[in-house]
Amino acid sequence: MNASLNNVNKLINTIIADRKQSRAAAAATAAESQGDKTSKDLLDIILNASETDLSPQYLRDEIITFMGAGHETTSTTTMWTLYELCRHPSILVKLQQEIDGILGNPTSTDRIEVIIYENLNKFEYLTAVIKETLRLHPPVSMIGRKNLEDYQLGEFMIRKNSLIGINMLALHTNPVYWKDPWEYKPDRWLDGTKIHPFQYIPFSAGTDALTLTHSLTHSLTYSLTYLLTYLCPGGRNCLGQRFANMELIVMLGHLLSNFDVRMTADQLSSMREEETVVTQPTNLDMIFTPRC
Ligand code: HEM
Repeated sequence: MNASLNNVNKLINTIIADRKQSRAAAAATAAESQGDKTSKDLLDIILNASETDLSPQYLRDEIITFMGAGHETTSTTTMWTLYELCRHPSILVKLQQEIDGILGNPTSTDRIEVIIYENLNKFEYLTAVIKETLRLHPPVSMIGRKNLEDYQLGEFMIRKNSLIGINMLALHTNPVYWKDPWEYKPDRWLDGTKIHPFQYIPFSAGTDALTLTHSLTHSLTYSLTYLLTYLCPGGRNCLGQRFANMELIVMLGHLLSNFDVRMTADQLSSMREEETVVTQPTNLDMIFTPRC
């Protein structure tokens, strides 16, 4: 464990040192040309803050959190999406029709090569595909809270300092809320059906759910709403949610614009699910074929 931690620390320190060096070089060039040419990504923002009020250890911990929270989650969601598309070739066909409609046919010469920010909200079906993947395969399938005071939840008394696990997959497949809960159906996100915010929480749960609390009748969601907001006033949520959605659209949009993907029956049946930091597919063997 300590050896692994040392490796992670070394990697982070190298990333910080490299960026500090390139920032110093960019600042010198900017001073010469009297303009700020430094990039402003997340690491820059954290480094800017660290110049005034973050200790080196805090800086390193922040970067580890973002790398850890941001990498495995989106890569796992990409893998699960591709796996589901291989299981459902007709969904892949429909998705590629949408992508080609926006970016152009893969064989055409005036095809759009890069998905820009302004185009992201055109990918309605891809967004539904991603949502459906996150419903059935939430990478963070369990979130935890600690109860700071005694709390009566229906017939149960939750004692102070209890560790509480909230099982996302159970919520995402609860038949009270979902029709055909175990079926992969992206269209469910496009038919206008309203869902309760705590029925679907792949990025955890924010406070906007509070507004609906009083109209609820089903005890599970009712209790969960209170439990989460009680344990977590202010609503803890994934900081990278919007970024992750954009990243997934760009990654999957480009990939499926350029490649067809499929798995044989043997490949499909040899896939295994593994619980690590995230819930991820292993033994995933796919066949990619260029579309042009
Ligand atoms: C599909 C992708 C992702 C999923 C499903 C996901 C899900 C989650 C979940 C469930 C939490 C736990 C919140 C809680 O305990 O209530 C979380 C926390 C967090 N996520 Fe994400 N995440 C994703 C992508 C990202 C990305 C891309 C970033 C950064 C660029 C990111 C940054 C964070 C951070 C910093 C936290 C900790 C927030 C805190 O400590 O309060 N996540 N995420």
